[in-house]
Amino acid sequence: MLLFALSLLFHLYVAYGASCRCSSVTIPVHVDALLPKDPMDMYGGLTSNASSLRHLDATYNVYGVFCQPVTLSLKNAGVIQLLVHGFTYNSQYWSPPVEEFRNYSYAAHSCDRGLSSLAIDWVGVGLSSRPANSSDVQFASCAAAVSQVARRLKTASILPGVLLPFTKVIGIGHSAGSGLLTFGAITDGAKSPFDGLILTGYPIIEPGELPPISLAPPARDVDPLRWGDLDPGYITTINSTSTRAVFYPPDPASFSPRMLIFDDFTKDVGTVGTFYQIFTNSLTSQYTGPVAKVIGSEDQIFCVGTGRCANVTALTAAERVPWPAVESLEVVVAQGSGHSMNLDFFANGPFNTFVHFVNQFARL
Ligand SMILES: *[C@@H]1O[C@H](CO)[C@@H](O)[C@H](O)[C@H]1NC(C)=O
Ligand SMILES: *[C@@H]1O[C@H](CO)[C@@H](O)[C@H](O)[C@H]1NC(C)=O
Ligand SMILES: *[C@@H]1O[C@H](CO)[C@@H](O)[C@H](O)[C@H]1NC(C)=O
Ligand SMILES: *[C@@H]1O[C@H](CO)[C@@H](O)[C@H](O)[C@H]1NC(C)=O
Ligand SMILES: *[C@@H]1O[C@H](CO)[C@@H](O)[C@H](O)[C@H]1NC(C)=O
Repeated sequence: MLLFALSLLFHLYVAYGASCRCSSVTIPVHVDALLPKDPMDMYGGLTSNASSLRHLDATYNVYGVFCQPVTLSLKNAGVIQLLVHGFTYNSQYWSPPVEEFRNYSYAAHSCDRGLSSLAIDWVGVGLSSRPANSSDVQFASCAAAVSQVARRLKTASILPGVLLPFTKVIGIGHSAGSGLLTFGAITDGAKSPFDGLILTGYPIIEPGELPPISLAPPARDVDPLRWGDLDPGYITTINSTSTRAVFYPPDPASFSPRMLIFDDFTKDVGTVGTFYQIFTNSLTSQYTGPVAKVIGSEDQIFCVGTGRCANVTALTAAERVPWPAVESLEVVVAQGSGHSMNLDFFANGPFNTFVHFVNQFARL
């Protein structure tokens, strides 16, 4: 309970070194999207006919943690990274408050290198609006909310201490968060508000590769105290570090056991829809900006035992197929890293890779 309270506290106030200022923000967004009537539709409605879709028109509050260097260079001032967590994580993924948290905080790492970031909670997750009906929380609605946040960042000054709208928004996703960015790139195409996408822990997924949904039962059964009033379509991983160990490299010496305990203790919810709809990244996008995909060589869900990550040339060719219009597509296999690559001892490698791509995409 204490850890949980602490995590909430850090949610509201994230303290870094003197070089970085962080504050929590709430951004109202209007979502106007077509959702499949059946949230288990693996393609999120993108391949459906009109009779199997429904219209969702709603306004949500998107919670986020905004971090900005205290001394911001002129060339970086117009750039912001929009950080999107994965399934059953929340915005804390980008700044986990554990004892050595500076090592694991990409928000702090990039801030130290002059870059601003906004780490948001998905609609339905963390401190963002939670629709009463979990079937409103699907890839189409969550991705529309993410795109709306990006658009608002470019049209108005909506963050504390920021005087002008941003000119470049770089999206960085983890796992299903990369899925939301990809889904948005499919629905927005050339009109995407993103000036570059960095998609981590998310190669093209074949239906057989999904872990069984039985590992993610209704959240209200897993923790009645925290989630007892949620509709059963809100799901989370069962109480066991062994379930979440799959997010870490197989070698237990490559991550802190305390991080795994913390991870299980501070997990958040997802929904049935957002679990099934991760397959949408095999569909074609007409997005025209640059894309980078970063995957851990020790990712137990997508790399270990699949052979797919051994040959980067072949992997890049496969990953490029659904992106015919992109300016560029690069794939990096982060050596040693697991699926949740921000949370193990190799985090520094991916962090430097993300910063490299942000600078390249923003033409800094
Ligand atoms: C629309 O899709 C549903 C579900 O896949 C299918 O049952 C139905 O026959 C389709 N309707 C038309 C008009 O194609
Ligand atoms: C975190 O960084 C500190 C200072 O650089 C270092 O001493 C420590 O070993 C690092 N911890 C991990 C888990 O990487
Ligand atoms: C949730 O929304 C869907 C789609 O509008 C509807 O079919 C379903 O009955 C709703 N569930 C509840 C519990 O209201
Ligand atoms: C999971 O942990 C929470 C918090 O400690 C507890 O309230 C809940 O009963 C646990 N659930 C199960 C299924 O063990
Ligand atoms: C890697 O894949 C490429 C493209 O499929 C192939 O030409 C090359 O021989 C492969 N390299 C190795 C070491 O297998």
